[in-house]
Amino acid sequence: MNHLDPQRHVRGESQYLDDVPVQQGTLYAAVYESPLAHGILKNIDLRAALKAPGVVRILTAADIPGQNQIGGIVPDEPLLAEGHVHFRGQPVALVLARTEAQAHAALKLITADIEPLPIITDPRQAAAQGELIVPPRTFRIGDSAGTFAGCDYVFEGVAESGGQEHLYIETQAAYAFPTELGGVKIISSTQGPTAVQRHCAVVLGMGMHQIEVDVTRLGGGFGGKEDQATPWGCLAALGAFVVKKPVKLVLDRMADMRMTGKRHPYSSDFKIGLSADLKILAYEVTYYQNAGASADLSPAVLERTLFHTTNAYCIPNVTATANSCRTNLPPNTAFRGFGGPQGMFVIESAITKAAEELGVLPSEIQRRNLLREGDLFPYRQPAEGCHAEQAWDTAASLFDLAGERAAVAKFNQENQLFKKGLALMPICFGISFTKTFMNQTRALVHIYTDGSVGISTGAVEMGQGVNTKIAQVAATTLGISINRIKIETTNTTRVANTSPSAASATADLNGKATQLACQALRERLLRHASTEFAVEFEGITIENEQVLAAGIPAETTWEKLVSSAFVRRVALTENAHYATPGVHFDAGTESGHPFAYHVYGTALTTATVDCLRGTYTIDSVRIAHDFGQSFSPAIDRGQIEGGAVQGIGWMTLEEVSYNDQGRLLSNSLNSYKIPDLYSVPAVLDVHFLDTPGHPNAILRSKAVGEPPLMYGIGAYFALRDAVRAFQPSVALPLVAPMTPERVLGGLYPEFVAESASRMLAK
Ligand code: MTE
Ligand code: HPA
Ligand code: MOS
Repeated sequence: MNHLDPQRHVRGESQYLDDVPVQQGTLYAAVYESPLAHGILKNIDLRAALKAPGVVRILTAADIPGQNQIGGIVPDEPLLAEGHVHFRGQPVALVLARTEAQAHAALKLITADIEPLPIITDPRQAAAQGELIVPPRTFRIGDSAGTFAGCDYVFEGVAESGGQEHLYIETQAAYAFPTELGGVKIISSTQGPTAVQRHCAVVLGMGMHQIEVDVTRLGGGFGGKEDQATPWGCLAALGAFVVKKPVKLVLDRMADMRMTGKRHPYSSDFKIGLSADLKILAYEVTYYQNAGASADLSPAVLERTLFHTTNAYCIPNVTATANSCRTNLPPNTAFRGFGGPQGMFVIESAITKAAEELGVLPSEIQRRNLLREGDLFPYRQPAEGCHAEQAWDTAASLFDLAGERAAVAKFNQENQLFKKGLALMPICFGISFTKTFMNQTRALVHIYTDGSVGISTGAVEMGQGVNTKIAQVAATTLGISINRIKIETTNTTRVANTSPSAASATADLNGKATQLACQALRERLLRHASTEFAVEFEGITIENEQVLAAGIPAETTWEKLVSSAFVRRVALTENAHYATPGVHFDAGTESGHPFAYHVYGTALTTATVDCLRGTYTIDSVRIAHDFGQSFSPAIDRGQIEGGAVQGIGWMTLEEVSYNDQGRLLSNSLNSYKIPDLYSVPAVLDVHFLDTPGHPNAILRSKAVGEPPLMYGIGAYFALRDAVRAFQPSVALPLVAPMTPERVLGGLYPEFVAESASRMLAK
């Protein structure tokens, strides 16, 4: 089964928000953003802008009829700045004009009088000043402090990982229309239609039933539109509500990069204790998450970091403490992996540091400590259906680890100016929203009298192929062709109170709800057939659009079944609710069973460094991955390939950079480098492990959206391995991304330090 959308995408037939035909009278919005990262907002001077051509109205916080509040977890985020500004790029005013160009031109005429306040951009500095978003949280199992004394080896260190720009192809956007009875309809590029609806209702001071949010598809989200589509939806809605005209707001690329949050950078302290035979006995870690100026999803991201503290390893004594630190940067947010990658980078750093100090291969420590069936995670859920060792051992044999290692060693012996490196990266990722209540959704299925089927769920299609999967589930369950099925837009009036499409759980949750609805419809139709043809209900089925059972006329097709059921007044619509069974978590004891299941896999990565230039190639990434019983192998393979490359980007090329004034320096694609065709690995193999899947996974096909991102961490350690082949004694800091500059710093530590100080002296 192929992804249903790409043919339409490449023909330009798919409708994104910006393709929606513009309604007469539409005004265009542009956002005036704070030019300073922190200060007291004393005055905004709108006079000149109001006189500019085409400007109809300029809205500020004073124009908000309800509450000026869009914080999703903590109410700490105004829609428009009021009293203070907390980051550069914070929305301060909204210009409404007759054309987009006029709206943008007017922005330049606005000035704000801001009294500067001290700016914090560093999470550790924020923590030292008590600037925490929420109180720190600690996950603990066993007694790490007491165990270190009995360890043969103990190592400590610091690991740092950087931010990451989502760079969805479609930038943030919303198009809002006033409706009768004073409500608003919003077309939004959001992963969370209900989040947009809920916050618009708060901002406009009305019931959620007055707000309708509709989503056709996204040109990518990657977490960046889980919560951060909300401000643009609310701003467009505010405009439409106040001026009673349609308002369209589309961020241009640089505004999007400046104004929206990214993956959270983390700075972490670790301490790891091992026995002589390389068992990890104890691990302590303190995370400092750079949350930005308001909470956004940071507390939830922080929580998932804690859940992934030990990656795919069993460590009996763990203390992990996480701090969410408030800084004067745009609020950082969900990004594929949702804090998991940041936690996993630290344990991999600790293992690598231990291996380097001990003169053993990191893989020796990794392999010896992999999770086994029944092992407890630090939050006390057991590893059930654990495939950590299977994934590793399959990767090692199938991809000829020994041979690859020998080839790398031989190459390094024969070459001075190029060095190769190799790393293994096992992953273990928990599937479910870590907030248990979010693991629920609904599906509304209509069978029309001609036998065609329309399906609405809470799922948002953002390229990951969830619509195709849902259509497959429905076709399989009803026994009909996929061509009869249409997946409708995601709309809050058809399916209410939904969680965002996130946590890799969209296909599981909405697929299961669809399956339940289709099962109910199928049973109802088969009961009708049994009455109509006076045959036993048991034994009737629909296969390939044909109703089958002894006594049923051969010409009874799906179409005939549906039309005869309608004539007999059988309900052809079903609304099903699905909630993941068995998940729970107690934040008081930080223990429970938060995940429906875990996904496992192992990547073998090789890289080559040019030891003159510091540039490099990632040569091969070979992955053995636990898909369970994939029913969309083409889509699932695409998710692994895309996720791995996105992870490699995060770990190698992509460097989000702010100056100490909180100004984004990497503010365009000239200064922010993402992987392109030339930098993806020449070899990217994906092997489907033979695993049974899990009953909580849709049709036993495991969630696949986020886990592969973490294979990218292997690229970091493969590059580090190559650098150390050139400079065995170098004390390389555990800092990601491993940009060519950092590689060069590792290859020529004295030279680079010296030239840097010379440059600074100039
Ligand atoms: N794939 C594409 N093409 N576009 C995206 O925006 N988002 C990722 C992943 N894969 C994304 C993607 C993220 S962050 C998540 S959580 C999952 O898809 C969400 O979809 P799923 O729950 O259906 O896997
Ligand atoms: N994962 C992804 N997104 C989320 C989660 C989660 O666990 N919780 C809330 N949003
Ligand atoms: Mo994905 S970060 O859960 O949207």
